[in-house]
Amino acid sequence: MNIVMLGAPGAGKGTQADLLSEELGCSHIASGDLFRQNLEKKTELGILAQAYMQKGELVPDEVTIKMILERLTASDCDASCLLDGFPRTLGQARVLDEAFAAQGKSVDIAIYINVPSESLVKRLGGRWVCRNCQAVYHITASPPKVKGKCDRCGGELYQRPDDKEDTIRERLKVFFEQTSPIIDYYREQGKLVEVDGDRDIEEIKKDLLSILSEKQ
Ligand code: AP5
Ligand code: MG
Ligand code: ZN
Repeated sequence: MNIVMLGAPGAGKGTQADLLSEELGCSHIASGDLFRQNLEKKTELGILAQAYMQKGELVPDEVTIKMILERLTASDCDASCLLDGFPRTLGQARVLDEAFAAQGKSVDIAIYINVPSESLVKRLGGRWVCRNCQAVYHITASPPKVKGKCDRCGGELYQRPDDKEDTIRERLKVFFEQTSPIIDYYREQGKLVEVDGDRDIEEIKKDLLSILSEKQ
């Protein structure tokens, strides 16, 4: 099964994708994480993406599409995958459909995690991320066991540079202008499932697992 996670910045795409991929045993492909990993390694792609990410803008479609389609050719994506943060424009959504169709696959379900803007800003302001494995924490909603250290790998936790107030506002604007049209794109194909994301992390996870098991 191929799953697309949709939602505004801070909606919990990464948090839920991590939990679901563990439960379902499928790969979690996060476009933002791939850009950040490239930046850590100072690759050309990472440096190019940084210029857009730090302003809260989208990285150009051709760059993002190439990176994701390459990632999807890896064998861990043969049977199923969970896409987080991609697609984010109608252009990306259409190319993904074409690429999947060429392999006899399709997007089976698009999950839209809906969270009101006030909660999004609070969440992003309190987020800490592992520099090594990209695991996501929150100072109150999901704190690490040891302050500043990743539970999973012991890596150092940091605050994303795009989690500053001005950049958060720009990211939200970009989401409503450029990404929200793909919610309707998947709705029209009968693939959209909308969940209330303004609840406990565990409650949302349970809900998503039951939705996915019905779909399988
Ligand atoms: P990306 O990394 O994808 O960032 P984003 O979409 O802005 O989303 P976030 O990662 O900020 O939020 P999330 O929904 O994953 O929330 P999380 O689970 O962390 O993209 C970054 C940048 O890369 C973009 O701005 C763009 O420049 C570029 N980019 C990426 N993909 C691209 C594409 N396809 N095309 C072009 N450019 C692209 O949760 C947030 C916080 O809330 C955490 O602290 C978490 O612990 C907490 N939390 C989660 N769930 C709950 C809950 N239920 N209750 C309370 N707290 C919660
Ligand atoms: Mg994320
Ligand atoms: Zn880690």
